[in-house]
Amino acid sequence: MSLRLLLTVFVLTTCGIHACPRLCSCSFSPWGAEVQCSDTSMTSFPVDALPPNTTRLSVQSTQLSAVEPGHLGAVTLLRSLQLYHNKLDKLPWDLLRNTSQLTTLDLTGNQLVRLPPKIFNQKSLRNLLLKNNLIEEVDAEWFSETSSLIQLDLSGNQLSRVPSVFLHKLEYLEHLDLSHNNLEELQAGALKNLHQLDTLNLARNKLSTLNHSLFKHNQRLSRLFLQENHLRELHPALLSGLPRLQMLLLNQNQLQRLPQSLLDGTNSTFQMILTGNPWLCDEKIDYLRRWLIDHPGDVFFLDEVTCTGPETLKNRPVVSLTGHDLGLVGDEELPHSVEKHN
Ligand SMILES: *[C@@H]1O[C@H](CO)[C@@H](O)[C@H](O)[C@H]1NC(C)=O
Ligand SMILES: *[C@@H]1O[C@H](CO)[C@@H](O)[C@H](O)[C@H]1NC(C)=O
Ligand SMILES: *[C@@H]1O[C@H](CO)[C@@H](O)[C@H](O)[C@H]1NC(C)=O
Ligand SMILES: *[C@@H]1O[C@H](CO)[C@@H](O)[C@H](O)[C@H]1NC(C)=O
Repeated sequence: MSLRLLLTVFVLTTCGIHACPRLCSCSFSPWGAEVQCSDTSMTSFPVDALPPNTTRLSVQSTQLSAVEPGHLGAVTLLRSLQLYHNKLDKLPWDLLRNTSQLTTLDLTGNQLVRLPPKIFNQKSLRNLLLKNNLIEEVDAEWFSETSSLIQLDLSGNQLSRVPSVFLHKLEYLEHLDLSHNNLEELQAGALKNLHQLDTLNLARNKLSTLNHSLFKHNQRLSRLFLQENHLRELHPALLSGLPRLQMLLLNQNQLQRLPQSLLDGTNSTFQMILTGNPWLCDEKIDYLRRWLIDHPGDVFFLDEVTCTGPETLKNRPVVSLTGHDLGLVGDEELPHSVEKHN
């Protein structure tokens, strides 16, 4: 009798534990269960037979279009939830209410448009990926006052503005990605509480100017991506107070020159890309020209930083220009060969 009981217990604890939702694969370890579901025919959340001690759950590339709060009610040890490339178009506000250990939530590649207040009110949450959805509006009410978010990825959405207060609670944020949206401006105070910010990606938006004090409180910023915008001009003080800045991408903008002193005081390991701008090679390009001559190794594609005007200097690399080309040298110097002689 007692042997049979023992056997039953043995069977339950060795075979029974291998319960796993249909269309998913599960792996078990003393630290918890990992569940992966990537069957294209899956249409509903794999709630049945979900191991109660699941710590990682990934549902990707399925037809899943809805998740309900109760679906995660039983997996209170969940630390990572990946729901990418599904068909989710909304989420309930209390989805994460019982997952007090959740650190990573990846919702990349769904059809989310609007999200309810309090949805990311989860103190444990560190990484939030909302990349490649259809989000039009962001809301500071998504987060709690005690947010400990470190990474926020909102790239590839439909944002045309970010309210100034949106990021104010996220004082631990280190990586912010707002690239591939329709942003036309960022208000001066938008980043003011992000004292830990290390990487800021604003690439491929419609930014035409940046307020000179936008990065004033982001002293730890080391990578700044501004490429593929409509920037026409930068304020001379824009980068002052960023001693750690190591990478600046400004390619594919509308810049005609860089203002005097913009790059003074940059980090010794600073690097940047400047190609794809209509550099205007008159005497005001001299600051950039001298900087390039002094830091040839710090600029990628140096020879592709070329003049679009004036006509006589068109397509010349800025770094190859002489003071004379820019009309900066006295009359006694010989005229440059490209000038016409009568
Ligand atoms: C999680 O459950 C599985 C199967 O029930 C088990 O093998 C594993 O030891 C459990 N882990 C923890 C941390 O409880
Ligand atoms: C959270 O867990 C409690 C019990 O622990 C349960 O009553 C409640 O329904 C759960 N809430 C959600 C949203 O799953
Ligand atoms: C930059 O932001 C500051 C502070 O909000 C504001 O006073 C100033 O007018 C802005 N500058 C421009 C050029 O918009
Ligand atoms: C340059 O950047 C590195 C890494 O961000 C930092 O440790 C170092 O202090 C910076 N240099 C200066 C002079 O601030």
